[in-house]
Amino acid sequence: MINIYERSPLVNWVLLSIAILIGIASIIYTNSLVNRLLIQEEKQIALFAKGQEFLANAEPSENLNFLMEEIIASNNSIPVVLADADGVPIDSRNLDLPQETEMKKKLMEEEIEKMKKEHPPIVLTLDSASNMKQYVYYKNSSLVNQLRYFPYVQLTVILIFFILVYSLFSYSRKAEQNRVWVGLAKETAHQLGTPLSSLIAWVEYMRLDENIGEEIVEELEKDVKRFETITARFSSIGSVPALKTENIKEVLEECVNYLQKRVSSKVSFLLHIKDDELPVPMNKSLFEWVIENICKNAVDAMNGVGDIDIYVSHTKDDKHLVIDIKDTGKGIPKSKLKTVFRPGFTTKKRGWGLGLTLAKRIIENYHKGKIFVLRSEIDLGTTFRIVLPTLKVQKVHIKN
Ligand SMILES: Nc1ncnc2c1ncn2[C@@H]1O[C@H](COP(=O)(O)OP(=O)(O)OP(=O)(O)O)[C@@H](O)[C@H]1O
Ligand SMILES: [Mg+2]
Repeated sequence: MINIYERSPLVNWVLLSIAILIGIASIIYTNSLVNRLLIQEEKQIALFAKGQEFLANAEPSENLNFLMEEIIASNNSIPVVLADADGVPIDSRNLDLPQETEMKKKLMEEEIEKMKKEHPPIVLTLDSASNMKQYVYYKNSSLVNQLRYFPYVQLTVILIFFILVYSLFSYSRKAEQNRVWVGLAKETAHQLGTPLSSLIAWVEYMRLDENIGEEIVEELEKDVKRFETITARFSSIGSVPALKTENIKEVLEECVNYLQKRVSSKVSFLLHIKDDELPVPMNKSLFEWVIENICKNAVDAMNGVGDIDIYVSHTKDDKHLVIDIKDTGKGIPKSKLKTVFRPGFTTKKRGWGLGLTLAKRIIENYHKGKIFVLRSEIDLGTTFRIVLPTLKVQKVHIKN
């Protein structure tokens, strides 16, 4: 079988690298466009300065003056301030300034300071004899600035778009998974219902028959009880299960007793819990299913020899009950600590990879709690932690 989870991190890295490459390429390309535009603007401003210089120096000649005025007027994007030899502003172009002269002058002075930082001014020699000078200060047009930031804005918008699409996609995928889970569970419970009621009736019938030994009937009854529990579990997971306040010690003791009888005697279960541990709202049959799944995995990981310790405590604020299930098994590699909860992930020949998925679903969706691998060391063991909200937090769906 192809294990899709083995490949998924690689695919993620490849996709991420492609996205980063596209981002870098788009920034480099826009930068080269900005540089080309800057060169053009330099040329335009040089021409503009030449025009100014010519107009100030030349003898009035109508045709040429007209040409020069055209050249000067053609600069309708690069902000310019013209200043005299002492740096006092005379005039400006392409700057949004008020009419009022004092204010205008002050703002032009401020602009000059900013412009100095971007480009050195162009010096105009107005009268070569007296060496009279003027300065043309300028800065990049708003087009250049917009273009410079454009790739960042564009990439951010694309990123937001992809995050939205991804969340929508994963939401609908989850909704679909939910429907499959619920549908399959309901159908299973339904299908099991008929033979179950028939079996219950048969057990009652056999009890009345004196030819059948008491022991046989009792054993059969136990199996039928188990059958009932399984049906109840499927039926609960197929609907919104009601939570009841349960004594966690009793529930866990029941689980441990049940499991201890069914696994090799070389596995020893030990429950560490205070007598008066906080009661928690839970669906007992589903919670037992979680504990069974985790303990069965632990037994498998220890190849049937070792210790399973269950520690129960609560947080200082009494809001959460903490259940740690520790085994002395083969451990889980670091890279798989999250993957183990995904449906279909298994390392066993006969595994379905559903035990932990189911556990996660029961704890997180139905009990609003958390389940995760607290720690795991190869060949030393693994500890799974379940955190359940206590009565203090969870006030929903509680039936007493
Ligand atoms: N306590 C543990 N120690 C080491 N590995 C574990 C432990 N618990 C789970 N795993 C790993 O996580 C995998 C997934 O566990 P999960 O219970 O979801 O499926 P499974 O046990 O393989 O199959 P099944 O559906 O029958 O439970 C296991 O195959 C195993 O590799
Ligand atoms: Mg399992």
